[in-house]
Amino acid sequence: MTKPDLSIELTGMGMKNPTILAAGVLGTTGSSLKRVANSGAGAVVTKSIGIEPKPGHPNPTMFKLECGFLNAMGLPNPSYKEFRGELDTAKESGVPVIASVFGAHPDEFSKIIDGLDGADAYELNVSCPHASGYGAVVGTDPLLVEEITRAAKQTANAPVWVKLTPNVTDIVAIGEAAQRGGADAVVAINTVRSMAIDIHSGYPILGNLYGGLSGPAIHPVAVKCVYDLYQALDIPVIGVGGIANYQDAVEMMMAGACAVQIGSAIYDSISVFDDVTMGLSEYLVSHGLVLDDIIGLAHRKVGL
Ligand code: DHB
Repeated sequence: MTKPDLSIELTGMGMKNPTILAAGVLGTTGSSLKRVANSGAGAVVTKSIGIEPKPGHPNPTMFKLECGFLNAMGLPNPSYKEFRGELDTAKESGVPVIASVFGAHPDEFSKIIDGLDGADAYELNVSCPHASGYGAVVGTDPLLVEEITRAAKQTANAPVWVKLTPNVTDIVAIGEAAQRGGADAVVAINTVRSMAIDIHSGYPILGNLYGGLSGPAIHPVAVKCVYDLYQALDIPVIGVGGIANYQDAVEMMMAGACAVQIGSAIYDSISVFDDVTMGLSEYLVSHGLVLDDIIGLAHRKVGL
């Protein structure tokens, strides 16, 4: 079988395949990021990094459900000053390294981006569903998203991606705000605000009481968000949410994603990047297609 070319250029960045490690998973150290890169990911995104060291929420911070994972880590991170060296280590992998950045206002985003100079792209986290003053608190306000994106673009020497929250009435309005601010791409979606309660004690399970849902349960939510964003925006849409196999990736691409991020599925196997890439190759060959043919295909079918 001749292997189809799965390499892509995403916001000016070359990638050997369209799979990307999602933010927050194995992204805290340079060596774990390297491990994921060596397992076949086309690019890797770091854990979200902020201005000051943060211990995160009290335990438990993560809980496995049948339909996915509930988490409220609370943005634990060593601050951009301490993370600098990890970024350099991750870059030894040879795949693009995207720094995920969170802040409370535009100046904070700029300062962190400046301190993490050298990343191949920056992913603005304006979508963590449970951090007071950060994440979705800023990411549900279109004006603030636009201002943050503009500030990030002025500072960054690399492309700026904006990761969107699904916990809004209209995700397209937020995507349009990011585009107006000069975003090079949007990433959709972050986790879905959610909660679990222990029926034996009556207590909410997570230390933070509620958190964000990831994994298979949110895949159809993500597909719809990506579909809507692709239709409305001129910039690329990167799809994330419950992708565990090549079928999920193909579906996300047909909705309009030009690349996919994978997070929760790593729990089962770190070989998920290779598995998705191989499955995607075989799918394209057996259907006589190239990658570009499937990106946004569902829109073209509906329009026929
Ligand atoms: C965390 C959760 C998120 O969904 C996110 O986007 C960033 C950080 C966390 O709990 O640390």
